[in-house]
Amino acid sequence: MSPIPKTAPFADEEIDLLNRVVGTATPVQRAWLAGFLAGLDASTGGAHALVQPAAPARPAEPLTIAYASESGNSEKLAGDIAKSARKNGLKPTVIDMADLDLAALTSAKKLVFIAATWGEGDPPARAVRAYNELMGEGAPRLDGVEFGVLALGDTAYAEFCLVGKKIDERLAALGGKRVVDRVDLDLDFAEPAARWIGDAVKVLTPPNAGGRVIEVDFGGKPAAPASTDIIEAEITEHVDLNSSRSDKETIHLALSFENGAPAYEPGDSLDLYPENDPVYVDELLKLAGLAGDERLRSDFIKSRDVTTLSLKTVETYAEKTGHHYVKALIADGQARDWIAGRQLIDLIATFPIALDAEKLRALTRPLAPRAYSIASSRREVGDEAHLLISAVRYDSHGRARKGVASNFVAERLKRGGRVRVKLKPNKHFALPAPDKDVIMVGPGTGVAPFRAFVQERRATEASGRSWLFFGDRTFTHDFLYQLDWQDALKDGALTRMDVAFSRDTPEKIYVQHKLWDRRAELVEWLEGGAYFYVCGDAKAMAKDVRAALVRAFADVNALPPEAAEQAVVTLEREKRYLQDTY
Ligand SMILES: Cc1cc2nc3c(=O)[nH]c(=O)nc-3n(C[C@H](O)[C@H](O)[C@H](O)COP(=O)(O)OP(=O)(O)OC[C@H]3O[C@@H](n4cnc5c(N)ncnc54)[C@H](O)[C@@H]3O)c2cc1C
Ligand SMILES: Cc1cc2nc3c(=O)[nH]c(=O)nc-3n(C[C@H](O)[C@H](O)[C@H](O)COP(=O)(O)O)c2cc1C
Repeated sequence: MSPIPKTAPFADEEIDLLNRVVGTATPVQRAWLAGFLAGLDASTGGAHALVQPAAPARPAEPLTIAYASESGNSEKLAGDIAKSARKNGLKPTVIDMADLDLAALTSAKKLVFIAATWGEGDPPARAVRAYNELMGEGAPRLDGVEFGVLALGDTAYAEFCLVGKKIDERLAALGGKRVVDRVDLDLDFAEPAARWIGDAVKVLTPPNAGGRVIEVDFGGKPAAPASTDIIEAEITEHVDLNSSRSDKETIHLALSFENGAPAYEPGDSLDLYPENDPVYVDELLKLAGLAGDERLRSDFIKSRDVTTLSLKTVETYAEKTGHHYVKALIADGQARDWIAGRQLIDLIATFPIALDAEKLRALTRPLAPRAYSIASSRREVGDEAHLLISAVRYDSHGRARKGVASNFVAERLKRGGRVRVKLKPNKHFALPAPDKDVIMVGPGTGVAPFRAFVQERRATEASGRSWLFFGDRTFTHDFLYQLDWQDALKDGALTRMDVAFSRDTPEKIYVQHKLWDRRAELVEWLEGGAYFYVCGDAKAMAKDVRAALVRAFADVNALPPEAAEQAVVTLEREKRYLQDTY
């Protein structure tokens, strides 16, 4: 049988795979397969897309799909676009912005960009280099490149979808032709993103493609792999790892799963589905004059985000209630400053007005899960998964505030209770081959994935060395998993450990100071092929750690600053500098 042509609407590796199966099939097997696919299609209502007699093959039009992602949402959507484009006869190429060579974009005819915003209006860590190049003066012209941008973000952040907005602007400024309007999507992006993808692929598909391409609909959505479904877990351990005299509360949570733990790897996270604090919800409903509404109360506790106050919320409030002061706040351009450090409850308390359940609900969005790094390896703990969760508590504008998920865990989950979670794989934060050295920098809860790394390396008897930098406030009260590290140092799963306790000495010592102290060995390990991992606070720590490493290269190798910077860029390009920060 003649092989399936390269122009078929499949990826190259899929064509190879099909050729391997169909190429060796007997006539009976081929006839069965044809009948099966046709029947499958008809049974799922896709009669319009029946297998048509082979039309003369036409080279599929290329589509470049670039994504800038940190926690995988944009990456997943890039895959969805590729699938949909392929079905429409396009030939998609998916590129992680981390690997993007800008010159390659100039030869793209059609381009889709999916970009998430991180930090405070920053690109995802892996995408920083290519993003800066795109924004810089040396960026190539993109005259005539047809493009569309999908921006992902979170309306809780002041710089909502900033990176997507800037990429969209920049592609146009470089001569690109915007053929699909940008959408800026919040955390509940699934449906609008699917709609945008459908529209974008339609626009980007040449008009004659439908008639000439063999369109095969395999019928319905493939079922999601079971390991990334939402599953219920039982809490088998719930322990505060800080001492009772610490001003922090960090919960070690052990979860067990009736039908086996999801197939997680070290470096993955679990999305945890929280509930809101009933005390907060009751106060909110009382302020809104809706205290007796039990249905709304239950809905608010279980499934709505009733704490976030975004610019959009304030605008919706003004629109739904016509409140004069709120309108004035927006008109004067003061709303953005006013919402900083405030929550929905402040809006209702400060600008009270008669509300009904529908109006109040319209101010909220679906309650989103929170990600927590998995702090265990299945090879050591079997069908369990461990999490390390720090209770977020602070005061602002005269009110005591509590983070939704972390306090749901710290205050309302108990041993024997149940919680819903979903696996969030992260293949960009995985262990290297067992013979490679690893350097792990994880202050505070940033240490969680490194407990998984160390357990995994012990279980696999990895020969590579491992070096952990940990930090927190005090040695006595905040040394998370201290006994685990001592055991690991004893049995060799951990080769070295350096600690920085910021409140034990008059001047504050952080992990970046320890990196600097150990710079000679650090550079030696890295030049010997070690992998460098950073996890935890994105706002200050991750930036300070990177800066310390640049200075370490400059000092140890007597390099000018640009060359030292280049040494770290090289590590990033080689994917030996890996971050999971939040
Ligand atoms: C990939 C990934 C892995 C993670 N792993 C872990 C982990 O292992 N352990 C862990 O504890 N967390 C981890 N996190 C963070 C976690 O997902 C939550 O963001 C965190 O627990 C807070 O959630 P919350 O619902 O309690 O707080 P929320 O209700 O979401 O409130 C947090 C918000 O409160 C505000 N806020 C917080 N502190 C202050 C302050 N001092 N002043 C003013 N405003 C403030 C900020 O707007 C902040 O965004 C991870 C995040 C990601 C993305
Ligand atoms: C620590 C952190 C910082 C974030 N900062 C922003 C931000 O400044 N602006 C924004 O619109 N979204 C922000 N987001 C939301 C992400 O863009 C959003 O979760 C997005 O879906 C992530 O996509 P990704 O998985 O492709 O990285 C932030 C999320 C986290 C966890």
